[in-house]
Amino acid sequence: ESSTEVDISSIEAGQAIKAVFRKQPLFVKRLTPQEIKDANDVDVGSLRDPQTLAERTKEGHEDVLVTMGVCTHLGCVPLGAAEGEVKGEFGGYFCPCHGSHYDTAARIRKGPAPLNLQVPEYEFTSDTVIQVG
Ligand code: FES
Repeated sequence: ESSTEVDISSIEAGQAIKAVFRKQPLFVKRLTPQEIKDANDVDVGSLRDPQTLAERTKEGHEDVLVTMGVCTHLGCVPLGAAEGEVKGEFGGYFCPCHGSHYDTAARIRKGPAPLNLQVPEYEFTSDTVIQVG
């Protein structure tokens, strides 16, 4: 029911911010060109939860990745959204609870998590603001 507005104007490429959406952590990351390339170079058919980066972002904003910060295994908060945190073997997020590795599109690549980090419903209300939910 309640939605959350996030100003993304201060997020530099390669950085992320943590917000809160419906009392759960929300990650908003601006991808670097290399991170976008890495995501798009993957054979989508080989993925446990097959989705392209384009399917997980908004058209014209492929560099803005909005996901829940909730591991799809048992709900821990993955690392990788804050400065200096480990990003795991695939350069995205890493859940230290049982070792789930997510790639630069926050897709599950290794470990027990069954699904990609969830992309919530959201929209751009301007070039620099998203409304989640
Ligand atoms: Fe993340 Fe188990 S809760 S790997």
